[in-house]
Amino acid sequence: MSFYLTTPIYYVNSTPHIGHAYTTIDGDILVRHHRQRGERTYFLTGVDEHADKVARVATEQGLTPQQYVDEVVVSWRELPARVNASIDYFIRTTDDGHKAFVQEFLQKIYNNGDVYQDVYAGLYCVGCEAFKTEAELVDGKCPDHGVAPEWLEEKNWFFRLSAYQEQLLQLYDERPDFVLPAFRSNEARSFIAGGLRDFSISRATQTWGVPIPWDPDQVAYVWADALVNYLSALSYAPDAELEFWPARHLLAKDILRFHCVYWPALLLSAGYEPPRQLFVHGYLNLDNRKISKSLGNVLDPLDLVDEYGVDPVRFWVARVVPFGQDGDVTLEGFRERYERELANDLGNLLSRTTAMIARYRDGVLTPAPDEPGELAAAAGALQEGIPAAFDRWDVSGALETIWDYVRRLNRHVEQTKPWELAKDPERGADLDRALYELADGLRVAAIALSAYLPGTAERILEALKQPLDVGWENVAYGRTTAASGIEPAQPLFPRIDEPATAA
Ligand code: MSP
Repeated sequence: MSFYLTTPIYYVNSTPHIGHAYTTIDGDILVRHHRQRGERTYFLTGVDEHADKVARVATEQGLTPQQYVDEVVVSWRELPARVNASIDYFIRTTDDGHKAFVQEFLQKIYNNGDVYQDVYAGLYCVGCEAFKTEAELVDGKCPDHGVAPEWLEEKNWFFRLSAYQEQLLQLYDERPDFVLPAFRSNEARSFIAGGLRDFSISRATQTWGVPIPWDPDQVAYVWADALVNYLSALSYAPDAELEFWPARHLLAKDILRFHCVYWPALLLSAGYEPPRQLFVHGYLNLDNRKISKSLGNVLDPLDLVDEYGVDPVRFWVARVVPFGQDGDVTLEGFRERYERELANDLGNLLSRTTAMIARYRDGVLTPAPDEPGELAAAAGALQEGIPAAFDRWDVSGALETIWDYVRRLNRHVEQTKPWELAKDPERGADLDRALYELADGLRVAAIALSAYLPGTAERILEALKQPLDVGWENVAYGRTTAASGIEPAQPLFPRIDEPATAA
């Protein structure tokens, strides 16, 4: 079974902020989890380079569009690398392989009779790269970009979206989990049921883009080019196979219609299967405000990583809001979780456990007791429950369950009080058992957490002198092997005294 996941391809003319990191990190957590389950995974991210804005800005700067995108793509390539996202390919819509595939794809739709020529006149928001109706504007401006759309009138090639209404409704009805969460599926379905308008898939006034194969004076509309990346990559990216199709798409609510309505229809027209599943997550707001370059409240994920390390950023992203909902985030909230959950709940637990094994048992961990201990049932529940949560794309819910388990381990220390057992030579067996339970519990937690905190999981396993195999079958009680040479571990999450300057 393969698990092929995509993130949106980000507009290259912006710079990465915490909202983009949010999608990329959550995507990586999903992929890493499925990899732990032994599935064959492929993870695609990248950039959308043919936006009209790109050509405009490039001209302002005296560059060709290609020179400009080659410069700005650098910070976008850095994003997955710096957040430790295990991507398989970083696609650029200026890749030759992509451009050739887009042409073939559009030609298939054309040959299928779904494309016709018409004049389009309307208000166009360059920020959204979409036409707007009067009703969608607030004070004559696009509510998302705060600028008045421009009047655009030109002869374009149109895609017969309206012809796909019935097929799309059938798709939604047959597959209740096609789009998750359910309220997003309802939103998309009602949009379809409300009647679909054909949309233009070409631009006559632009030259920056993929030429329309049957009319090279026009270029493909940026969305008709960008969406195809999910499929084109499989035709030329290293280690990719067209058999990975259909994909699972991760995106936020801002681009729901393009993904949940236009894209499945385009695929059906070109003769491909619709996506396997789409998950539409919410929007992060920073200090109660929409994150936007013009508001100046962008939180740079790379600054946060520099200051705190990558795993705390990954942890926060997965934990800060229930996955699927919108949420307000603050830098203070980040620091608070860092101290309370990472440094105290998890970091201290490892420090205490390894220190006690070093001190009371000279660093030797004895083999598993014959009788399963008190934590056996809790580990079993994790092994079953976490994959079930991930099957619902519940990245935050699964982490909450793991954290309950970490808290349970902390209670176990307080209940068994190894420091008291150590004072009584007659209770040596009880001490061995208590220490084993803690070490084993930490090993289970580390493996369960490794999709979220890959580096930290490794450090925990190394500190306990355990194999680094994070296969899901090892999220099971009692697999900790006897070990020696265990030393008091260095703090996993050192205290950060200086307030961060990232915001
Ligand atoms: N280029 C298009 C997507 C084409 S996909 C075929 C685009 N690019 S974008 O740069 O605007 O990226 C939008 C995506 O970035 C969102 O769908 C989401 O994944 C992510 N986010 C951007 N800001 C975000 C928040 N404030 N909160 C959560 N996710 C955010 O649209």
